[in-house]
Amino acid sequence: MSLKFGLITLLCLTVVALETCTAERVRYDNYRVYKVQATDRQGLEVLKQMEDTDIALRFLDGVHKIERAINVVVPPNKVADFLPILTNNKITYSLLEANLQNAIDKDYAQLASRATTDRWTAYQTLNSNYNWLITLPSLYPGVVTLIEGGKSYEKRSILGVKISYQNALKQKPGIFLEAGIHAREWIAPATATYIINELLTSTNTEIRELAESYELYIIPHANPDGYAYTHTTDRMWRKTRQPYGTCVGADPNRNWDAYWNTVGASSNPCSETYAGRAANSEIEVKSLSNYITSLKDKIQLYISFHSFSQYLLYPNGHTSELPDNVKHYQQVYNATVKAISQRYETVYTGGNIYDAIYPAAGSSVDFAYTKLGIRMAFCFELRPNGSFNGNGMELPAEQIKPTAEELVDGLLAMVAEVKSLGYFELINGEEVEFL
Ligand SMILES: *[C@@H]1O[C@H](CO)[C@@H](O)[C@H](O)[C@H]1NC(C)=O
Ligand SMILES: *[C@@H]1O[C@H](CO)[C@@H](O)[C@H](O)[C@H]1NC(C)=O
Ligand SMILES: [Zn+2]
Repeated sequence: MSLKFGLITLLCLTVVALETCTAERVRYDNYRVYKVQATDRQGLEVLKQMEDTDIALRFLDGVHKIERAINVVVPPNKVADFLPILTNNKITYSLLEANLQNAIDKDYAQLASRATTDRWTAYQTLNSNYNWLITLPSLYPGVVTLIEGGKSYEKRSILGVKISYQNALKQKPGIFLEAGIHAREWIAPATATYIINELLTSTNTEIRELAESYELYIIPHANPDGYAYTHTTDRMWRKTRQPYGTCVGADPNRNWDAYWNTVGASSNPCSETYAGRAANSEIEVKSLSNYITSLKDKIQLYISFHSFSQYLLYPNGHTSELPDNVKHYQQVYNATVKAISQRYETVYTGGNIYDAIYPAAGSSVDFAYTKLGIRMAFCFELRPNGSFNGNGMELPAEQIKPTAEELVDGLLAMVAEVKSLGYFELINGEEVEFL
């Protein structure tokens, strides 16, 4: 398997500009996806053991909590060994997909063709999104500035935009939005680019007010190497592309310098939640966190987009201790999930990361909140919901727009609530006066 991966990498690097090595993509013919759930400590330990030692099994989520369902990809020749281990250890399971390759084929089939005029009826490649982003400053002069949040291991730019209308508001509060740090979560960058487009083109008065009253920094692809790799080679890729011995990549959302690797992350380079060699060992995280740190006096609200399960989450991830302003978090949470539900009755749940999903140290949201003093920091896990019949990554392209539309509704409510609580007049907890 690792030899094959090496070969693929070489082939794809030589034709990287084409962004398609279709013949060389990792195939998952008859691979099954199971949803599994430990019911006791022993079951959890068995799952951990398998995650750590059985390289053929692909744990799509880290194993961190009893009664927390996680998805596992099982090769056809492993099924007969895998299922009895579950049964013998009171690990409950259900079959989500009998042939993962079918779902992946469907996903690639809904990639944008060059003729697509509406960018949000299909998923886009990295190049397509970057080519679009770089047109924006000349289309919206004095409004859009290209920003570079950092660099990637394969020397790509972590490209984004700053949207700042020139008007009577001399100094505007800042909102930072980062998406795509997990490569295979395709709906996250699609939603981020949709929001950029709305901020620039919508005539809705609330959206105009949002666009024109704030400085918005939006990075749709925080992990560009990983995203490109999900197109060229492996649809299920999550991590960065820096090699670590026989395995590749760290989980960039466990690599931030905030209680790094204390809980809910792995020290095993083959794990999907490998924390990296040290905090900031991933150049993406190191350069992006430097960039955000340089802006910290301008940012009052930090947002991160992931998928899936329809959660709205807030700090902390590294501890069950609640943030001191948890009442405010709950208030903003309530307003936001209510707004999201209005258009299509989509239900978001959530709470503090540690309890609502699982312990996770070294995430961008914890970094923003605990290290930079950005008092309002949220993470969205976008569609589909947890009972989706599949591995969760293959959200049909027809759902890009509804997902993004309801998120715009949520964002408007969130910003209004954060504003009403006075956070946009704070910098590092200190009151400031915006003109
Ligand atoms: C949020 O909503 C829940 C459920 O409706 C309610 O119990 C809680 O008091 C609300 N919290 C705040 C801070 O508004
Ligand atoms: C999850 O989404 C599916 C498809 O939209 C829907 O049919 C189902 O009722 C939802 N389940 C929950 C628990 O919200
Ligand atoms: Zn994610």
